[in-house]
Amino acid sequence: MPGAPLLQLDKLSTHYVSAQGSRVVRAVDEVSLSIDQGETLGIVGESGSGKSTLALTIMRVLPVAAHIVGGRMMSRARTSSPSRTRRCARCAASASR
Ligand SMILES: Nc1ncnc2c1ncn2[C@@H]1O[C@H](COP(=O)(O)OP(=O)(O)O)[C@@H](O)[C@H]1O
Ligand SMILES: [Mg+2]
Repeated sequence: MPGAPLLQLDKLSTHYVSAQGSRVVRAVDEVSLSIDQGETLGIVGESGSGKSTLALTIMRVLPVAAHIVGGRMMSRARTSSPSRTRRCARCAASASR
């Protein structure tokens, strides 16, 4: 797909939901961005603003409590839907750091 961005996020949202479902943290809330080949994007924000969760979402290594609840993530390699996102239980401990 010549001309298409290397990575494009369209209103992507990832929430953490507690085991009982009573607590929800909207860690990533409708994030849209586009990165072309050869570009570098820096993400800056205060602690707890969702930087790590955004990165884990893009890398598809979310902890079990995390759920992609909306939006789309497209890369030149493949287009993914939330249902195809793999989860990584081992990442659960590191995600909150
Ligand atoms: N495994 C987790 N379970 C529940 N909440 C989490 C988990 N990891 C992060 N959070 C919460 O998600 C929000 C975003 O955290 P995080 O993505 O780590 O931000 P940052 O990397 O910008 O510091 C924070 O409110 C944090 O407490
Ligand atoms: Mg972090």
